[in-house]
Amino acid sequence: MTTAVPITKRIFSGAQPTGQLHLGNYLGAVRSWVIAQAEYESYFCVVDLHALTMPQKPQELREAIRRTAALYLACGIDPKVSTIFIQSHVPAHTELTWLFNCIAPMNWLERMIQYKEKAIKLGEDVNIALFDYPVLQAADILLYQPHLVPVGEDQRQHLELTRDIARRFNDKFGNTLRIPEILIRQEGARVMSLQDGTSKMSKSDPSDLSRINLLDTPEAIRKKISKAKSDQILGLRFDANRPECYNLLNIYAILSGESRETIEAEFGEAGFGKFKPRLSEVIVEYLKPFQSRYAEVVGETGYLDTVLRDGSERASYVANQTLKEVREQMGLIPPISFSLEEGSVR
Ligand code: TYM
Repeated sequence: MTTAVPITKRIFSGAQPTGQLHLGNYLGAVRSWVIAQAEYESYFCVVDLHALTMPQKPQELREAIRRTAALYLACGIDPKVSTIFIQSHVPAHTELTWLFNCIAPMNWLERMIQYKEKAIKLGEDVNIALFDYPVLQAADILLYQPHLVPVGEDQRQHLELTRDIARRFNDKFGNTLRIPEILIRQEGARVMSLQDGTSKMSKSDPSDLSRINLLDTPEAIRKKISKAKSDQILGLRFDANRPECYNLLNIYAILSGESRETIEAEFGEAGFGKFKPRLSEVIVEYLKPFQSRYAEVVGETGYLDTVLRDGSERASYVANQTLKEVREQMGLIPPISFSLEEGSVR
């Protein structure tokens, strides 16, 4: 008699430690991670090396790396079932990037929209790593051979590239790498800026008024919502031609759990003057449990370090297996250990 062994599926995802995680990061990505961890073997990475592709102040970056990891925990990632780690603590990420650099065509990277947008902003200051960013992202993912990668809509092109790099590797060297599926939930996949309903809520927007950070105080949230861009049309509707109105209603719908019909029935005749204070209160209440868990996580001396140490050990174990295989298939030989005592190469 054979017993079926359940195959645990894996997921991998990550966020950059720049500034703070905001509502867009949570609704587009982290919320999916929290749901998925019950079902999948999960790896969640703080991608610090990606953050270095843009100018950073070292002390602020150090703080943001720890804060991002603590926020993963505060959002409900459970280190007993999921692996949380810092990208640069697992050197396999950079090594696999180099190996992929040797097979990724330049013109695939030249097509990347995020690179083009950032390069325009930076002008002559644009560095090589910013161009290579999607290859590092492919290495992040493929090291863990995940079945699924849950992300927001803005990551679709990078994920398609990851799949192309995996296919190219497999075509050239044999079927080693799993081609991961992209998981983008419809709800919350693209939360827009509070100051411009046509551009996404982003950590890199110079105006803090454009986003709700997960650690914002109630006062800050009320101020940001009251100053959020709106329109002059009376009656609030989920109308895609009214991007600011749509975005605010959408945030309200996701956080309150109410249906669009209920919300339109309630605010269909009202203006933003009535709606905005209600939206502020929904956000304040929604974020309260995150903020108290965050305080607990950072308040317990040594806890975060223990989670990150265990996480990087577990992640390294899986990552190094893939790296070893890729190295061998590309024709590299295993490292030769050198014994100091005997003065010989083994
Ligand atoms: P990052 O740090 O910009 O964002 C982290 C996650 O949040 C999602 N997201 C949003 N979702 C909805 N609305 C928004 N306004 C919004 N803004 C951000 C992103 O889609 C993402 O899922 N390149 C990645 C980090 C990365 C990565 C990886 C992700 C590096 N390696 C491997 C997945 C797998 C980035 O910059 O995400």
